[in-house]
Amino acid sequence: MSKTKFNVAVVGATGAVGEQIIGLLEKRDFPVDKLKLLSSARSAGTVLNFKGQEITVEEAGPDSFEGIDIALFSAGGDVSKELAPHAVRHGAVCIDNTNAFRMDPTAPLVVPEVNADQIDKHQGIIANPNCSTIQMVAALKPLYDSYGISRIIVSTYQAVSGAGAKAINEMLRQSKEVLEGRDANPDILPVGSLPVKHQIAFNAIPQIDKFQDNGYTLEEMKMVRETKKIFGDEDIAVTATCVRIPVIYGHSESVYVELKNDYELEEVKQLLAESPGITLVDDPAAQAYPLATDAAGKNDVFVGRVRRDLGNARGLNLWIVSDNLLKGAAWNAVQIAEIIAAKA
Ligand SMILES: NC(=O)c1ccc[n+]([C@@H]2O[C@H](COP(=O)([O-])OP(=O)(O)OC[C@H]3O[C@@H](n4cnc5c(N)ncnc54)[C@H](OP(=O)(O)O)[C@@H]3O)[C@@H](O)[C@H]2O)c1
Repeated sequence: MSKTKFNVAVVGATGAVGEQIIGLLEKRDFPVDKLKLLSSARSAGTVLNFKGQEITVEEAGPDSFEGIDIALFSAGGDVSKELAPHAVRHGAVCIDNTNAFRMDPTAPLVVPEVNADQIDKHQGIIANPNCSTIQMVAALKPLYDSYGISRIIVSTYQAVSGAGAKAINEMLRQSKEVLEGRDANPDILPVGSLPVKHQIAFNAIPQIDKFQDNGYTLEEMKMVRETKKIFGDEDIAVTATCVRIPVIYGHSESVYVELKNDYELEEVKQLLAESPGITLVDDPAAQAYPLATDAAGKNDVFVGRVRRDLGNARGLNLWIVSDNLLKGAAWNAVQIAEIIAAKA
């Protein structure tokens, strides 16, 4: 590219992730020349603010990408599948937040703390992993490098914002309905074209996305497949159970990991504390551990409750929390964009 300023497009600019991407481009002072904001016809015409400038959102189409250097997609997998190839045709590098290209062998699946070296291998599209995968692999990377990892068992406690702006509204609406003694009317969750919807207010739903033939949900299988691809290690055994809970921002994860080598607990804590992008919050005496409410609005991945498994000396339990809209989506994408910009 050999540029110092970039024409950037945000596809899905009016969504939960898009809003955070625009905010980060501004906060990080990303070298934006022109910013193009794209959505569906529904929100076209909406005026959004970027660095004090009013920008009118346009309907995204195949010709929206002329002159665009970097296109950040967060408008659902179908939109990415349809429009990202057009953006590439116009010479843009696409950073895609959806599931559309994550397992495509030509698209690097990148978490900068883990495999930034893969960015250069792109052929126009770089995939951002699933939010629950990103925070887990970012936290496990220093342990993978120091001890090796043979097995991961993860249970997630995922925020409603992970299912978009509509799911946040549904949770708030249902909470009010229940508090007022009325029936909660489920409409959105579990998200997707599914025949049955469940109440999320005051509840926990052990289904995120549709079920696969093997009894796992798609979200769970994303964690399995993406973890292997990001570490470049097909031998890691991964089992996931993904649960939606009535938290607005921030996914929490209980992670059991089996290391290949012996470890010292204090050394593990030190490694985590020293790793970029990780904040260790682990002081049981002070009841200090990561909380979704504390992680919300921050870019880091927070790790705590670090303790040795009682039945396996190489087993380790961790509690990993991060803002799903930031490190789980917008921040990871903008980090990738910053790396591309720095090399251009
Ligand atoms: N939320 C998360 O934590 C998270 C994390 C990682 C990845 N993601 C992925 O990011 C994507 C967006 O998620 P979100 O939570 O931001 O959803 P959202 O709040 O529902 O926003 C969706 C955005 O996509 C736009 N859009 C929908 N259909 C479109 C179309 N046909 N053409 C162009 N734009 C269209 C919407 O525009 P309108 O305003 O016009 O409807 C809106 O801007 C999803 O694929 C999701 O899986 C989300």
